[in-house]
Amino acid sequence: MTTPEGQGRLDAGTLAGRAREQGLKAFAAGRFDIARRAFADALRFGPEVPFHRLALGTAEALGGQTGPAIATLLDVLGSRPDKAIETQAALTLFALTMRWRLPAEAFSPEQIATVAACLARDDFDPQPLGLVALEIVRARTPMARAYEILRREGPAAAAAWAVSSKGRKAATDRLFLGFLSRAVNVDAETETFLIALRAALAALPHVELKDRHARELGVALVSQCLANEYAWPVSEAERRALAKPPADPDARALLAMLYPSDAHLRDAEALQRLAKGANEPLKGLILGRVREIREERRLAAEIESLAPLTDASSALVARHYEENPYPRWRGQIVAQPGVAAFGLGAQAPPPWKILVAGTGTGRQALAVAAFAGPESEVVGLDLSRASLAYAKRMARHCGLERVRFVQGDLLDVARLGLTFDRIEAVGVLHHMKEPLEGWRRLAACVAPGGVIKIGLYSQAARPAIEAARRLIAERGLAPTPEGIREARRLILAAPPGDALRGVQAFADFYALSEARDLLFHPIEHRFDIPAIRAALETLGLVFDGFELPEEILRGFRISHPAAEAERDLTLWQAWEAAHPETFAGMYVFQARRA
Ligand SMILES: C[S@@+](CC[C@H](N)C(=O)[O-])C[C@H]1O[C@@H](n2cnc3c(N)ncnc32)[C@H](O)[C@@H]1O
Repeated sequence: MTTPEGQGRLDAGTLAGRAREQGLKAFAAGRFDIARRAFADALRFGPEVPFHRLALGTAEALGGQTGPAIATLLDVLGSRPDKAIETQAALTLFALTMRWRLPAEAFSPEQIATVAACLARDDFDPQPLGLVALEIVRARTPMARAYEILRREGPAAAAAWAVSSKGRKAATDRLFLGFLSRAVNVDAETETFLIALRAALAALPHVELKDRHARELGVALVSQCLANEYAWPVSEAERRALAKPPADPDARALLAMLYPSDAHLRDAEALQRLAKGANEPLKGLILGRVREIREERRLAAEIESLAPLTDASSALVARHYEENPYPRWRGQIVAQPGVAAFGLGAQAPPPWKILVAGTGTGRQALAVAAFAGPESEVVGLDLSRASLAYAKRMARHCGLERVRFVQGDLLDVARLGLTFDRIEAVGVLHHMKEPLEGWRRLAACVAPGGVIKIGLYSQAARPAIEAARRLIAERGLAPTPEGIREARRLILAAPPGDALRGVQAFADFYALSEARDLLFHPIEHRFDIPAIRAALETLGLVFDGFELPEEILRGFRISHPAAEAERDLTLWQAWEAAHPETFAGMYVFQARRA
């Protein structure tokens, strides 16, 4: 707020209060530029009020100032605000950092410390902050040297440096270890380095595995491998290095956990035996995995069934997800009632009845439940009991046990005997033999005035995936851990300019179950906008708009400022033709009954 004439004598508190009022009004009117300036004034004139800084960061984010928004929101988290403010700051920050990379120089030392501290927290989603941490590691920590060597001499040389007595200390930088042990790497260059790093550790003389730094690095790599389900290929040289296990039980456990067999990894009893020889924190890590396996086994038995699967295609898809539940997410749901993150805001107020069809491992259903509040009823339906057991485990972890998980085919949804204010099926219908039939059965369960949210693959956004599926078919690769690792190895090694390299841009490429879903699905349909329009017409549904990142919507609105333009599929078709990456994730949209 610029101080107008005659206001010079007003005290700072009054000025800050007025700036706050002005900011809130500007927010309500969608004038984020004015809101941003007003809240900056409130902070300048008044004391440090966490709400003011949160409002400033939110206005920056909504006004398209991504860099400043990330910095401001990190400052909010660093100031240890109350839970509600922290949650809102984290939600906005995480959404931004999943899509934007800021140069590492943009962060102050205090902000870097906040990244490291938040990354270690069990109640935050580690993935978005892990990506920020990696940027900082690459440019601002002693590990930057490994990346220089990597680019100059290749991954083996970089890894040899990192496990040498000189490099080890750099490699056990807090941020790098935090990244490795909490997030899943989704960067191709870093993966080549990490694969080589694991191999270099395996090739060390056994006595060196007792060295503190080598061991810390090894344990962090075990965490990384557990999170990506051992998606990395294993070379012959590594197999040879492993032929003689170390005599020391802890070093033996470390190597065994860096290179377990696929069967071993799912065997709670074998893992528990291995944990006996391990010291902390490796022991805790192994026992954590043992607990997860046992808990999911127990929870799977408790899940109610809708009806036996009779459709052959559904049974085929069920087998895929029984073996590889998707997605294998970790961390926490940070949404809370009142945080408008899921396009629910436009409906009548809660409580709602919501169905998440094809809920998978539950992230979507739990996030919706957190938003919809305790009075709402949320049902998660899925073919795969293993996926639902994962979902139930995560529901307990997130304190959201009120979600009802049901195993069954969405073709049988009428058997639930319920209608819903909202039905979501994201990433599901395109895996059915007849997507339209599935869609029809779901639409029949939408209550009057209710909405349906659908997510479908876009033909235009997936040429790289098509190239990978062709490669997999040509090579006859099976959807087994070995087959998936081999496909990933070939894609990682694809030369510049090869269409396959486009796959490296998909986060799902970097973990085993996710890569299977991305590249090896037994049924995959792709859609375009005319096909979506035709389906909506057939089903008597009215298109209500796409869910897209704010910056894409902003670009669309600049070209098409009329309010109703966002519901015009013809305009979107032209937009996608000009911007084929728009729906790289999926077409995610809402519709309601005509
Ligand atoms: C790619 S996952 C998506 C999971 C979740 N919607 C998400 O976005 O995180 C697809 C899920 O749909 C489920 N699914 C596929 N066909 C289904 C059907 N006919 N009935 C119920 N679930 C189905 C699968 O079992 C799988 O868990």
